[in-house]
Amino acid sequence: MHSCQSIRKLLALIVLVLSLTLTSNSVYASFALPDVAATDADGVAKVKEGMALFKANCASCHAIDKKVIGPALSGVWDRWESEAKLESWVHNPSKFLESGDPYAQVLKSNDITSVMTAFPQLTPEQINSILMYIKNPNAGAPAEAAPAATATADAGGKGNTNWYIWALIGFLVVLAGLLWNITSKIDKTIKEKNGEKVDDTPLGKKIFSKKTLYVLLLIGAILLVVNIFHGAMDLGRSQGYAPDQPIRFSHALHVGQNQIECQYCHIGVEKSRHASIPGTQICMNCHKYVQEGPKYGKEEIAKIYDYAGWDPDKTKFVRAPKNIEWVKIHNLPDHVYFNHSQHVKVGGIKCQTCHGKVEEYEVMKQFAPLSMGWCINCHRQTEVKFTENKYYSVFQKYQEELKKGTKAKVTVADIGGTECQKCHY
Ligand code: HEC
Ligand code: HEC
Ligand code: HEC
Ligand code: HEC
Ligand code: HEC
Ligand code: HEC
Repeated sequence: MHSCQSIRKLLALIVLVLSLTLTSNSVYASFALPDVAATDADGVAKVKEGMALFKANCASCHAIDKKVIGPALSGVWDRWESEAKLESWVHNPSKFLESGDPYAQVLKSNDITSVMTAFPQLTPEQINSILMYIKNPNAGAPAEAAPAATATADAGGKGNTNWYIWALIGFLVVLAGLLWNITSKIDKTIKEKNGEKVDDTPLGKKIFSKKTLYVLLLIGAILLVVNIFHGAMDLGRSQGYAPDQPIRFSHALHVGQNQIECQYCHIGVEKSRHASIPGTQICMNCHKYVQEGPKYGKEEIAKIYDYAGWDPDKTKFVRAPKNIEWVKIHNLPDHVYFNHSQHVKVGGIKCQTCHGKVEEYEVMKQFAPLSMGWCINCHRQTEVKFTENKYYSVFQKYQEELKKGTKAKVTVADIGGTECQKCHY
């Protein structure tokens, strides 16, 4: 009967540890940002300035309440220790990530990571306005809408992401209580069997009846459905699609660890429309010699030999090669024209902006949504690098406007990047 007692202790311990790990995840040092009332003219002006800056610089990757390419920005003030640190992040994200700050570790460990653009030109005042806008997204709205607006701003600020965790903890606590009750019952039966006297009115029985069990199961089911629903919304089209491949090829191992350039394998990416997937002959440049891997030993590399028609014992090709049938992950519809060299070579955009931190992928996946909105948003936001490309002479007019200061920047949209026929046949 002592074993039942130790089960109970174990249960209490599990609940404690789970609660601590779940909550510690969401608790960081925070800094304060004021709420702005609709009547506060200065505050409203600041929020409006922040909104304009946000739309011009951040909206291509961030929304306030949902994940886009970057995380939802609501509640950043609860995640960052100080506004000064957040400023240094916005000014130079990659430098901050290398700074050894504890929050840099948190950001690095996020699955959503891609490369955030650096904004060295934004002043602390401007960053503060952006934050004020994120905190008070509706403060700039017309007066009638204001009361409802402040209410949603408050709710969005903190509780939003945490309710789910709290519900889960609540569920665990009650479940533990239920199991506790069951063990008491077993205790009792054993005592009765042994002919010992037992207290016939256990406290637990009043609290935990069959009804509570049903309610619990219902709550559990609801939480599960909510979880699945959230997952489905995030997936969008095929975003996140990461199929099994005929050979377990790891970008983390080849690009991250062994520092092989993307272009070594995706030879078309700077020259043509398609990046192209490497054939066996490219793999064999190295795998004639590299016959064993750190994770799968000879197993996966043997598959390359099989496709290539290579006999590692005789060290020569003994058969004609077969194509490795890689499962295509990215797939734009046929009516869309997308050109890699234009983006990578002419536009100077990093692979990671569209494909995520490939150097960390064990399994390749579709990082971006590939929706029309995604293409067009970036074309509206992204400045064309005039000095480095062929549009230099063609767009003399823009050049002069830039010089005179009548135009702040020329975006891809300005040079026609939102015209239908540019992307559609
Ligand atoms: C090119 C896409 C992109 C743009 C543009 C961009 N961000 Fe980000 N941002 C990201 C990504 C991706 C992350 C996640 C980084 C990580 O987890 O390592 C991020 C993270 C952040 C974070 C940290 C979020 C957190 O949960 O702590 C803040 C704050 C932030 N961005 C602010 C801004 C602001 C302000 C702007 C506009 C001035 C901006 N970002 C523009 C992609 C972008
Ligand atoms: C050693 C060769 C190699 C290198 C280096 C390499 N890749 Fe790949 N890549 C592959 C192979 C093989 C596949 C197909 C298998 C897979 O999807 O994992 C692939 C698939 C991809 C895909 C998905 C293709 C699809 O089906 O839609 C993308 C995107 C990609 N690579 C991007 C990159 C980027 C970005 C880099 C550099 C940071 C890089 N790769 C470096 C070999 C390589
Ligand atoms: C530029 C050289 C180079 C090229 C090209 C290359 N690999 Fe590799 N590959 C390596 C190295 C280095 C290792 C790791 C060996 C080690 O760490 O022991 C490796 C390991 C592997 C492994 C073993 C993984 C494991 O953990 O067991 C597989 C599978 C693999 N490569 C597949 C491929 C495929 C498929 C291609 C062609 C698309 C390819 N490699 C192209 C250099 C290369
Ligand atoms: C502006 C966004 C963008 C950038 C930058 C970008 N890609 Fe892509 N990539 C795409 C899109 C969109 C597709 C899907 C194309 C399709 O289905 O026709 C794709 C597809 C691919 C594929 C699948 C094969 C193919 O050619 O369709 C590979 C491999 C790939 N990219 C590698 C790279 C590498 C390597 C880099 C950097 C040198 C890079 N990409 C930069 C958007 C981008
Ligand atoms: C991360 C930003 C980004 C994304 C995402 C992006 N583009 Fe672009 N795109 C650019 C830039 C920058 C240029 C301009 C390159 C230059 O200087 O010519 C460009 C140019 C183009 C052009 C030529 C426009 C012209 O006027 O000559 C086409 C067509 C195009 N992109 C199609 C697409 C399609 C289709 C997608 C989505 C599948 C897409 N782009 C996604 C940044 C992006
Ligand atoms: C920067 C590139 C770009 C431009 C400019 C662009 N589109 Fe698209 N469009 C796309 C992409 C990418 C898709 C595929 C989206 C998907 O698969 O969900 C698409 C899909 C579509 C579809 C099909 C929708 C569907 O559900 O399959 C229509 C219709 C369309 N575009 C019309 C237009 C019209 C009209 C314009 C001009 C006003 C335009 N597009 C301009 C990139 C572009």
